[in-house]
Amino acid sequence: DVLDAKGMHLLPGAIDVHVHFREPGYTHKETWESGTAAAAMGGVTTVFDMPNTHPPTATPKDFADKLALAEQQAYVDFGIYGLMAEDNVDQLEALAESGVIGFKCFMGNTFGNLPSPSSGAMLEAFERVAPYGLRTSLHAETASIMAWRYERLRAAGRNDALAHVAARPDVVAVEAVARAAILAEWAGARIHVLHVSSAAELRPIREAKQRGVDITSETCPHYLMMDTRDYATLGSLMRVNPPIREAEDSEALWAALRDGTIDMIATDHAPHTPQEQYNDVIWEADCGFPGVETQMPLMLTAVNDERITLQEYVRVSAVAPAKAWGLYPRKGALIVGADADIAIVDLSREERIDQETLHSHRARATPFHDWPVKGMPVHTLVRGRFAMRDRQLQVQSKGTGLSVKRVQSMPVAQLHNTHKTLAAEIAKASVEQGETAHVD
Ligand code: DOR
Ligand code: ZN
Ligand code: ZN
Repeated sequence: DVLDAKGMHLLPGAIDVHVHFREPGYTHKETWESGTAAAAMGGVTTVFDMPNTHPPTATPKDFADKLALAEQQAYVDFGIYGLMAEDNVDQLEALAESGVIGFKCFMGNTFGNLPSPSSGAMLEAFERVAPYGLRTSLHAETASIMAWRYERLRAAGRNDALAHVAARPDVVAVEAVARAAILAEWAGARIHVLHVSSAAELRPIREAKQRGVDITSETCPHYLMMDTRDYATLGSLMRVNPPIREAEDSEALWAALRDGTIDMIATDHAPHTPQEQYNDVIWEADCGFPGVETQMPLMLTAVNDERITLQEYVRVSAVAPAKAWGLYPRKGALIVGADADIAIVDLSREERIDQETLHSHRARATPFHDWPVKGMPVHTLVRGRFAMRDRQLQVQSKGTGLSVKRVQSMPVAQLHNTHKTLAAEIAKASVEQGETAHVD
């Protein structure tokens, strides 16, 4: 049972703090089984699931029901977000105590049509969750600005993909980030800005960091690697909230990722069926596409293209999310004091992304279809157990993924017990916390 990892690199498994696995309620799009299978195949060992399911994860009962579904099916470890909305402010302490990984606040309207909280409700919500130290992740777009712009554009008869961009000018996020940062600072709450898509949005993030607000942020591969020129060919297939913007925005996001203004990479994995995603009426197309399986190949390609170094990739894909959610070094580090959540990658392996083979099998259409990539995860271990081996999903691992809240209270898994050859290779490479190892 020798594992051939010759010439490969060992990385801490990626942590994706932003996925929509759709269950309960929208299982025609995705389930915990298909979503976590996609994660395992993408070198992702921990995912945090968003609460815009049906029902939304708004009460301790909703949380317990989702947890049971996840535990039956998961290939990788997971966190479950609780909803923070106008009408569940009274539930937040109970949700915090039930074991959510953090909260999600939809400041702007998106899939699920969850009502955006007023500033008043947000302030009270932040005050209630602050004592728990849990981070609130923000869909930072201001609902009233968007609603106004949508009406104006629709009334003007616009029905093109770029109208979606025009309906969400950069100020939609700039205003929302700045407002949320003020409220969080006032309440002493931790926040995370989801899917940073524009250069303009970096300023309120930098300002809040300078003031000492506990604020982290993420961007996604699609904002780094595509821009408005692609709408002509991809149309509603690349429609996502917030929208993909100009080439200069992408450049600014790369720079912000390198300088730490943007702390991490997440995917906003948002599967919809092709019928929901392609729509001649742009306003009616569902927004988003799957991403958890393609993040690592795309980002390793960027490593090969020298957009970022391998060390920087490990920082933004594993170390930073683990630290922001208090999981480091248990998760996010390679071996020392860790859970042996490992992605073994072949940086020289060349493939094309093929949406027909993605494991989000109900909703595979991705704007990255047919993109050439160089760098693939080949083996994925979750707490020392194979979830993917030689690019094959290990179906016997279904249901072995656990809530990270549960994992935190268990003894650290011993990689050495589960795979001696790999342990020997790692020992030879003598790695340190958070670093990568190369197998000669
Ligand atoms: O494009 C998006 N899709 N943006 C969101 O904020 C939600 C997501 C979804 O759940 O489909
Ligand atoms: Zn969002
Ligand atoms: Zn999302």
